[in-house]
Amino acid sequence: MDIGIKNVRDVDYHCDILILPVTEGDSEIYKNIGTKTASLIKKLISREFPGKLNEVMLIPAADDIKPEKILLVGLGKRGEVSSEKTRQAGGKAAVYIRDAGMKNIALSTRVIYSLKLSPIDFVEGSLLGLYTFDRYRSEDSKKKIKSFTVLSEVSKGLVDEIKWARIGASSVYFTRDLINTPSNDMTPTHLAREALFLKRKNLSVKILQKKDVKKLGMGAYLSVTRGSKEPPRFIVLNYRGAKGAPLVLIGKSITFDSGGISLKPAEGMEKMKYDMAGGAVVLGVIKAVSELGLPVNLIGILPATENLPGGSATKPGDVVMSVNRKTVEIVNTDAEGRLIIADAIGYAGRFKPWAIIDIATLTGACSIALGNEAIAMMGNNRDLIEKIKKSADKTYERVWEMPLFEEYKEYLRSDIADIKNSGGKNGSLVTSAYFLFEFVGKVPWVHLDIAGTAWADKDKPYIPKGASGIGVRLILNLIKELK
Ligand code: BES
Ligand code: MN
Ligand code: ZN
Repeated sequence: MDIGIKNVRDVDYHCDILILPVTEGDSEIYKNIGTKTASLIKKLISREFPGKLNEVMLIPAADDIKPEKILLVGLGKRGEVSSEKTRQAGGKAAVYIRDAGMKNIALSTRVIYSLKLSPIDFVEGSLLGLYTFDRYRSEDSKKKIKSFTVLSEVSKGLVDEIKWARIGASSVYFTRDLINTPSNDMTPTHLAREALFLKRKNLSVKILQKKDVKKLGMGAYLSVTRGSKEPPRFIVLNYRGAKGAPLVLIGKSITFDSGGISLKPAEGMEKMKYDMAGGAVVLGVIKAVSELGLPVNLIGILPATENLPGGSATKPGDVVMSVNRKTVEIVNTDAEGRLIIADAIGYAGRFKPWAIIDIATLTGACSIALGNEAIAMMGNNRDLIEKIKKSADKTYERVWEMPLFEEYKEYLRSDIADIKNSGGKNGSLVTSAYFLFEFVGKVPWVHLDIAGTAWADKDKPYIPKGASGIGVRLILNLIKELK
């Protein structure tokens, strides 16, 4: 889809459909959309179509204006419209228009500008909402929107915003594709190949194999790989856009989580292909950062492997040694994410990072606590936590902070090793983070648990059912704001 800006009045722009955002009950702003059309709009807004959030109504346009048709899109009450609501309306409108088979659309900016909001939030919602995953269907849907034109004065600010939205959304698409791809295709090897495609002049990619990580002593990560015949891949990306210490992003990359010997129940297990969502987010962020050429130093680490049972799989009760020489009693092989992240954290030390952010579908307890609405966040650094909260407000990829009380240490006490990998059901969201905390030491660090949000069980205004790609816009915007 081409996105453009044209400084043409909405009534004079020839297109298949003109989108008119509507705030509840307000038709005044459209009183000069032709004469016939304007009076139809006025009637509709006073009755059938008050303009409730995310409602849409398709109407014909009379021949005294250029657009063929008009789509009224509700933004809700005027005093309550936000950039998020604009984004949602954008998603709803674009999906409706696509499904109706229309190709060239234009957006009237009257209402949005009158609210001092940006039309690009609407565009972003459209882009994100139009995502489809058709790779495994014999027939591709023919319905595709060709062009989206924002009817506005052109400014450098607007052009930059569009560039940001386009690259951001295409990175979210990339991330969603990786996550939606089933595990028979999205193997650790394949994930590594996707990382290698991102290689550029100032973005290097290094793939460590089993023998390499053995040499390094990553016993925690290796313990998870043992049950699988698919070779593991420890993927390291290094983007250099500035001088100074890097920010390290670690993404959980379990390409399928069966639970291992502590096998999961069959019901819903097919969804465990999304246990590499964290890794996919890290790749998405790095792709966007490199395309935007942002002035930061970034390291991405994706410890990738399957977690399967098998004759040589790790067994409950086994003790392994992590790369930073801590011994771990594996009481539950299904608590594998923290094992691979612990070794990734250990590996990250060599880069002397100023901060580490890990993002992972770490616990079922995350969705029990917060449902599908927020990322659970825990960390050891107030400043970084607050920065992430700010970015969450801006992007509506919401985070909710959970505690790291020192009492949780007790939950992870092992009878025979330095630590055990699960404290049981009680507090499992926070103890999983506490486990990681035991490996980070003093480096500023934040853990993001996306188990509840990485997958949408039903369509949302701009997140079609399936992988959400949540985390990409959150971290990308965080990086933009870092000074
Ligand atoms: N990948 C799962 C967590 C998960 C569950 C993500 C559901 C998305 C949806 C993780 O590896 C896991 O199995 N966690 C266990 C930990 C427990 C054994 C301490 C859990 O949360 O049940
Ligand atoms: Mn698991
Ligand atoms: Zn897992």
